[in-house]
Amino acid sequence: MSTSSRDMLVTSALPYANGSIHLGHLVEYIQTDIWVRFQRLRGHRCIYVCADDAHGTPIMLKARAEGISPEALIERIGVEHRADFADFHIEFDQYHSTHSTENQYFAELIYTRLQDGGHIAKRTISQAYDPKAEMFLPDRFIKGECPKCGAPDQYGDSCEVCGATYAPTDLKNPISAISGATPIAKDSEHYFFKLADFQPMLTQWTQSDSLQAEIRNKLAEWFKAGLADWDISRDAPYWGFEIPDAPGKFFYVWLDAPIGYMASFKHYCERQDLDFEAWWSPHSPTELYHFIGKDIAYFHTLFWPAMLHGAGFRTPTAVFCHGFLTVNGQKMSKSRGTFIRARTYLDHLDPEYLRYYFAAKLGSGIEDIDLNLDDFMARVNSDLVGKVVNIASRCAGFIHKGFAGMLATELPAPSLYAHFVDTGERIAQLYERREFAQAMREIMALADQANQYIDEQKPWILAKQPARATEVQAVCTQGLNLFALLMTYLKPVLPAMAQRAEAFLNLEDAGLDFVTLHRPLLGRTINAFTPLLTRIQPEVIEAVLAASRESLAPTAATPAAAKSAQAEPISAEISYEDFARIDLRIARIVDAQPVEGADKLLRLTLDLGGEHRQVLAGIKSAYAPESLPGKLTVMVANLAPRKMKFGVSEGMVLAAGPGGDALFLLEPDAGATPGMRVK
Ligand code: MSP
Ligand code: ZN
Repeated sequence: MSTSSRDMLVTSALPYANGSIHLGHLVEYIQTDIWVRFQRLRGHRCIYVCADDAHGTPIMLKARAEGISPEALIERIGVEHRADFADFHIEFDQYHSTHSTENQYFAELIYTRLQDGGHIAKRTISQAYDPKAEMFLPDRFIKGECPKCGAPDQYGDSCEVCGATYAPTDLKNPISAISGATPIAKDSEHYFFKLADFQPMLTQWTQSDSLQAEIRNKLAEWFKAGLADWDISRDAPYWGFEIPDAPGKFFYVWLDAPIGYMASFKHYCERQDLDFEAWWSPHSPTELYHFIGKDIAYFHTLFWPAMLHGAGFRTPTAVFCHGFLTVNGQKMSKSRGTFIRARTYLDHLDPEYLRYYFAAKLGSGIEDIDLNLDDFMARVNSDLVGKVVNIASRCAGFIHKGFAGMLATELPAPSLYAHFVDTGERIAQLYERREFAQAMREIMALADQANQYIDEQKPWILAKQPARATEVQAVCTQGLNLFALLMTYLKPVLPAMAQRAEAFLNLEDAGLDFVTLHRPLLGRTINAFTPLLTRIQPEVIEAVLAASRESLAPTAATPAAAKSAQAEPISAEISYEDFARIDLRIARIVDAQPVEGADKLLRLTLDLGGEHRQVLAGIKSAYAPESLPGKLTVMVANLAPRKMKFGVSEGMVLAAGPGGDALFLLEPDAGATPGMRVK
């Protein structure tokens, strides 16, 4: 029933090595892993590789902020990522890193070949430069006022308030998010990949079956807009590979990232003594598939095939895009506790619940998928525990009690069994086409039929009549054989549960697979039934949300930490870039006046080292106005001006307090002067 054996190489996108794996990422890795496991169960050779994406400015800056080397950072995150994936049963044949010798080799090789082919251009461009940090600023590290609506504090590519998109040079009053300095324009020579050279090849590729319809339409738009040259170089300081014969110039992270797929596979080939060329040469009969999120389609459907083609390698057989994960209908949020890390989930819940739920939601399209936590619990409990496990638990006891674990030698309802086997081919087609949700529906419809069969046969009533003992054995043998088929169909999704089922069915050598489906289990003994999966309890979901909300609260390891945790929980974690957006300055209070009609406010005049600001501060309960002039304190200097009942407040001063009226203004150590940046 399965077609002749295929040779397939499958990848998932390479996660950045500057943060933890979260449930959003897992949509992709679980989707890919299910597909790969399915292909293997069909008897194909299917090699699954991935790696950490270890280069780029954010990783450089994160390492800097932690006071460690980028190598140490990517090493630590790599260990964490591997453990998270393994514990979700994501079974890579190779998990590598883009910061590897293989990747440097292929990045240089591909670049050199593109250059030899005349596909690399060099020209000088002017870009934003941070004179204080002495580095060019990626768009996301420049902020300023939106050129369209004037909203303060917007990033260099788009405005979160009005949605406008623009170039960072359009921002008004731009500042560097790294140092707070005003960026200057600076010239530098850059290397470009001439994408337009590949227009004919890309036209053909985008019209092939390699892409989903939605993506093909998007590509058509990009084509219409024109294929611009792609800037593949970055100036030092940068964390990446230096470009050959171009000292101080580095490959942009997105150049060497997809090459990481090849590098990881190359590493695998060396371990396994496999012929790399046979898989990557232009007319290779092997198949190559990339699973990615829709946000990175441009890189994978235009740059990547063009790079491969230009460098004399094969192009992908297909690129499969998926949508984004929302939780309870909204973007994952740290304050709601729905930004759930893989590890937090694993601390409380079985990974297979999530694998099943994602499978039950995933189709072949690029729509977003929602993890509704109530639905998650209901679905897993009713489908997996209530339907599937139930079949086995209803039948196993009778076989053990009455027949010492021995199954009957014949099926009493062979046509029902045959119907389950036949449906297997349809289920296989659905898996093949990544229509997992439909496959799960088919499987659950079969589970309903199996339960219905047992309900009709009522073995618990037959068991009371000694004369009908063989019928009990037959009915339960039928039930367990239907269960075995269901577990075969679920095995790509639930590998650990399937393994427990195999142990229970005494199948450990052979194992359930899509190839040997037809042979029912007859005249053999099974092992004692052990619970295959337990129900999700609502309080466990609550615990996951609570742990995600509080993941930065001090642990109760020391009495002091326990005490401060009690006082006020630490807020949800933010990134260094989030923090860097807050411009804290030393300010001198030059004047403080009561505000008529307001019993809590003082009107402060603050000196920021030349510039004066008026701030309305709720500190009257703690400070007499006359005690304040001359004091140094810390203010948020880039807070958007706020119109209050008593006037406009142009910032905020910082004070600590346990709640209530007690307040303590922050004061810098001796030597600080107005205008200094606090960091
Ligand atoms: N490093 C790049 C990929 C380079 S591939 C040569 C990258 N990394 S990522 O860590 O941001 O994302 C890794 C994958 O996870 C991407 O395919 C991305 O689309 C996917 N997802 C990240 N967040 C996601 C959701 N919230 N939902 C679904 N997929 C998500 O991009
Ligand atoms: Zn705007």
